[in-house]
Amino acid sequence: MWKLFIVCIVIHLCSAQFNFPADVDNGDWEPVYRIYEGGEWNSHDDYLSKEKSVRHGNKDDSQFRSWKIDQWHYQNIRKVRVQLFDAGYEVVNFEFDSKMENMTSFFQVTNLKETNYVDILGSTAQGDDFSIDGDGDSRHWTVSSRHVGNCRNDEGWLQVIDKPKPGRDRCVCGYENVDKYPTIMYAKGNRKAKWSNRRSYGHADMMQVSISHVPYKAPPSPTPPNRGPQLQTQLQTQLQQQAQFQPVHNIQNIYGNPFDFL
Ligand SMILES: *[C@@H]1O[C@H](CO)[C@@H](O)[C@H](O)[C@H]1NC(C)=O
Repeated sequence: MWKLFIVCIVIHLCSAQFNFPADVDNGDWEPVYRIYEGGEWNSHDDYLSKEKSVRHGNKDDSQFRSWKIDQWHYQNIRKVRVQLFDAGYEVVNFEFDSKMENMTSFFQVTNLKETNYVDILGSTAQGDDFSIDGDGDSRHWTVSSRHVGNCRNDEGWLQVIDKPKPGRDRCVCGYENVDKYPTIMYAKGNRKAKWSNRRSYGHADMMQVSISHVPYKAPPSPTPPNRGPQLQTQLQTQLQQQAQFQPVHNIQNIYGNPFDFL
């Protein structure tokens, strides 16, 4: 009887341990940069430009660049999030660990912690360009899987096309011939898109960069093996054995009492 009692307590403790609710972290996110498709800002140059910065910019949902971007190191920025919205819905999310990074260097695959795309993280083929600078001309915030000579097979997840610089001699891919600047292009769904296939990518209305001062948690220590099922089997066996020797009301007591004790 006492043995069974202990087993019940152990099971109770084990299941308590494995049923903890997920640790909810709202992340303390604060938007610092927001641009709209066709809003005439240069997604790259205006992101870097102190001249666009405002002290209290996030009063409404308009385009803005916070002065905090220029105070990057002093603000102790630990996480950065880049989101795209289409008709009010979030369609793309990239979240980065920004520890020790600056306003541009956070944006790289080795810092990527979360995204809606399932074919970047944990994939061996992580693409040929992951950078805010992009091609150094009109293609920026580039998360490209493949960009090769003939443009037709180019694939990627995100790119913002800005107005080409005057006089720049550039090789323009068909998908870069857009009618408004900037144009915010993203792969629909959760896998990369072929930029020559108009149906596989969408245009976002808005791109927003947010920062957080809350660091990522240290990786959890390895979880102990779950002995719950094993103990449950032991318990069942014991109950069956006891049922053979004891009247029924005792078994009911076994179910009722040990948990009240805790
Ligand atoms: C950010 O860091 C990268 C490399 O670590 C460096 O090349 C770049 O100039 C830095 N940018 C700024 C704005 O400090």
